[in-house]
Amino acid sequence: MINQNDFVNPLLKWYDKNKREMVWRDKNNPYFTWISEIMLQQTRIEAATDYFIRFTEELPDIESLAKVPQERLLKLWEGLGYYNRAKNLKKTAEILVEKYDAKLPEDYDTLLTLPGIGPYTAGAIASIAYGNKAPAVDGNVLRVMMRYQACADDISKMTVRREVEQQLMEIMPERPGDFNQAIMELGEVVCIPNGAPLCEVCPLGETCKARQREEVEKYPVKIEKKPRKIEKRTVIILSQNGKYGISKREEKGLLAGLFEFPSWEGNITKKEIEIGLQEKNISVKKIQSLGAAKHIFSHIEWHMKGYLVEVEFRAPEQWEDMKKIQFVTSRALQENYSLPTAFRTYREKIEEIEKILEEKSSPEPL
Ligand code: ADE
Repeated sequence: MINQNDFVNPLLKWYDKNKREMVWRDKNNPYFTWISEIMLQQTRIEAATDYFIRFTEELPDIESLAKVPQERLLKLWEGLGYYNRAKNLKKTAEILVEKYDAKLPEDYDTLLTLPGIGPYTAGAIASIAYGNKAPAVDGNVLRVMMRYQACADDISKMTVRREVEQQLMEIMPERPGDFNQAIMELGEVVCIPNGAPLCEVCPLGETCKARQREEVEKYPVKIEKKPRKIEKRTVIILSQNGKYGISKREEKGLLAGLFEFPSWEGNITKKEIEIGLQEKNISVKKIQSLGAAKHIFSHIEWHMKGYLVEVEFRAPEQWEDMKKIQFVTSRALQENYSLPTAFRTYREKIEEIEKILEEKSSPEPL
């Protein structure tokens, strides 16, 4: 068992002195806690801040989130990735409006029944927003706990996470929200994952077993899962009269329901694209390479090559899979459509090309 005096008291003292300002912190607003904790599962605090401000300015409470059209929600989430998390936010907001008087429940077990709320988020909301004793174990907490105890258990195992939750409950003080955040924050700024941890300034340094053994970087132990599948794709950005072709992805699977530039499996050459399009009765006026790009999802990596293809549609109805393609300006694409980060490199390339063309066509300054 971890000694409370060695662990809890120095940690809370350190937190009181060093805690960082966060726009959602200490606001007494469970909705803010929920939204920020979901965002922080996929991005760093610095990056999450802008997203959080934009999101909560437009959707300041559970009612507005329940009502927002999905397209708009995904636009607000654009760039954060894991779009199912945004969809689950809305689903949960709808349930809260319907069944819980538009409030987040206070109780850990009830929170766990809501879409997108797992043990970490339930613990974070219960403890931070409502001051209830519940553990909130994320990767930072696991790292701190494994190092502190010089424990070589595999942190990718659910049983290890459960064990840590139990250990934390045994020493949980009267300030559960601060305690949970203090461990996370220690993991983020002192007991850091890559590079040397800052043990000299660590409030737990004197009693940390890994440090005593000078083996801090040996922990935590994580057995890697099987490697990601690599998928080669050729992204084809059709352009016609200053507009670009996008289509909506299926409602199921990877990036469900989001917009995309059409792509073909495999890496295809310019010549093959030209022939492929001609077979579909689309004449190609010009093909320009937009280079390679890579995007990493949790289980798959896309290795992409992109082409900007100026086309002329004579008989678009002859191309079955073209039916769903709509042509939009790059401005509309930026403002109104949620295009996943995977395609951002290519959207930016289009914007660059447009800028160059604009500069060329505008008169020289005197
Ligand atoms: N990381 C994720 N959530 C956090 C929080 N509430 N405080 C500090 N770090 C965090």
